[in-house]
Amino acid sequence: MLMNFVKRKISQSIQLIRDFRKFRRDGGVVYCPLTFCDPSMRFIGKKVLVVGGSSGMGLQIVKDFLEEGAIVVMTGRNKEKLNDVQNSLSNTNLHTMTMDIADVETIQPCIEKVNMQLGGIDIFVNCAGVLKHNKISNKYGEETFDYDYVMGINHRGIYHLCKYEGDYLIKKHIKGRIVNISSVAGERLICDPYTLSKWGVNVMTKGLAKQLAPYGICVNAVAPGRVPSSIDQQHENLNFEDNAFCGFHKNHRLIHPKEIAGLVLYLCSDLASSIIGQVIGIDGGFKRDELI
Ligand SMILES: NC(=O)c1ccc[n+]([C@@H]2O[C@H](COP(=O)([O-])OP(=O)(O)OC[C@H]3O[C@@H](n4cnc5c(N)ncnc54)[C@H](OP(=O)(O)O)[C@@H]3O)[C@@H](O)[C@H]2O)c1
Repeated sequence: MLMNFVKRKISQSIQLIRDFRKFRRDGGVVYCPLTFCDPSMRFIGKKVLVVGGSSGMGLQIVKDFLEEGAIVVMTGRNKEKLNDVQNSLSNTNLHTMTMDIADVETIQPCIEKVNMQLGGIDIFVNCAGVLKHNKISNKYGEETFDYDYVMGINHRGIYHLCKYEGDYLIKKHIKGRIVNISSVAGERLICDPYTLSKWGVNVMTKGLAKQLAPYGICVNAVAPGRVPSSIDQQHENLNFEDNAFCGFHKNHRLIHPKEIAGLVLYLCSDLASSIIGQVIGIDGGFKRDELI
């Protein structure tokens, strides 16, 4: 597989040199291919860190990167969960590391450790997140706890991750990618910690993208609608045939983690190198207006 890939690259490079010679001789237009790889081999040898990759859509992202030949480190707080995934996937390109992004002091050492382990990191996917249903008018006394907990992970944790990842890529001269997993909640006008945290993720994605674009680093976010996962006890047991939540999406169905992973991988591919600072909804046309 690797030999075919190398052969194809060599023959495409020879073709490119021929095209340039022809261009110098005859003039005209030369099309420079953005990627020499065929779509199923976009990430061969790429080193990817998926923060919050042990379940839900993070896990699907891990699986899809592995399928395309990447070397992946997935993290989460729960060691047992990470071990279970590693055993079930049994892929030598998959590594695990426990990491709690609420403990921001540990972020830099963890990334350094992954760097040492893989010899570099090209792509960061920040997928870790928690959800608590709690509006400001309810249970005022308990709200502070939820605020600190949710904001500590979804907002403060992701902020420190993004900042360190950006510094890392600049220092190592890597034209890498950072993809944050936000949410449709990041556009809704609701006063709860989860919504606030995702507004913050959207703003930091756009701001960081502007700062890092001159270094060839692309930062973007994906904002999913409802995807069944363990994040929300209200929908963790749903399957994709269950239409209990179809009312939230204009296409009347839940979103499959594969759909989210497909978009994340596209954003990390060569073809997406002009997509910068975008928060891309993948939400079945979520009925934002009706839920405000
Ligand atoms: N499911 C949805 O409908 C939906 C919709 C929009 C956006 N999102 C967003 O999508 C992302 C993934 O959610 P999901 O639905 O796939 O949920 P999930 O299955 O619960 O996955 C969350 C992942 O984040 C990890 N994690 C949680 N807190 C962490 C922390 N403090 N430090 C490090 N890792 C942590 C979890 O592992 P441990 O528990 O072991 O730490 C797990 O790997 C979240 O950011 C969420 O806000 C979800």
